[in-house]
Amino acid sequence: MGRREKGPFVVAVDGPAASGKGTVASSLARDLGLPYLDTGLLYRAVGVLMQRAGQDFNDVPAAACQALMITADVLDDPGLRTRAAGEAASRVATHPQVRERLLEFQQTFASQDQGSVLDGRDIGTVIAPHAPAKLYVTASPEVRAERRWRQLTGQGEQVSLEDVLADIRKRDERDGGREAAPMRAAADAVLLDTSEMTIDQAADAARRIVEAARARWEASR
Ligand code: C5P
Repeated sequence: MGRREKGPFVVAVDGPAASGKGTVASSLARDLGLPYLDTGLLYRAVGVLMQRAGQDFNDVPAAACQALMITADVLDDPGLRTRAAGEAASRVATHPQVRERLLEFQQTFASQDQGSVLDGRDIGTVIAPHAPAKLYVTASPEVRAERRWRQLTGQGEQVSLEDVLADIRKRDERDGGREAAPMRAAADAVLLDTSEMTIDQAADAARRIVEAARARWEASR
């Protein structure tokens, strides 16, 4: 009897805005020598392209059409990192038609033989439900707001901490409450609360979780 093919070693990192998931995921990818995809950038790109084209975020056919045009090279645009881009992303991300158009891009990335690391909201639940390593990275809204505020003001944006906290709460509600692929921890994800952790501590904790998952994955091949 042949061995069952287990698929590549995919690390799925989900969690709310500014939870530290991007930092954790990119550090894991560097340590493991694996390609990394920040899937939030795909939704940000759709939102920003719509904004630049003067389109309404509720125009579903237009949003779906923009999603079809997304390629890897648009993801380097610094315009995707702004506060407005985050808000635009969470608006367009509610449309199932947009999510469907971005699914293939993400699943193709996740199917690379060498393995991969992806972060987002629905990686462990929808994009890579069979990923051998899943983390759900979280932190309190206040801690996340402060981190995001530091990032945005560091980029030169003029915004108050209160407004960033309000954005975070609104985004949590929209991302967790939508019908299409809501933000959820997969049943088999390991929870990592980074509220009281430094970047290095969060990255170390994530590394230990993924090393244990990798050992289980190797043993089962
Ligand atoms: O992670 P980031 O804050 O860049 O994501 C921006 C928005 O994109 C999120 O608030 C969410 O609405 C959407 N998103 C999503 N699914 C993903 C990644 C991001 O719905 N896998």
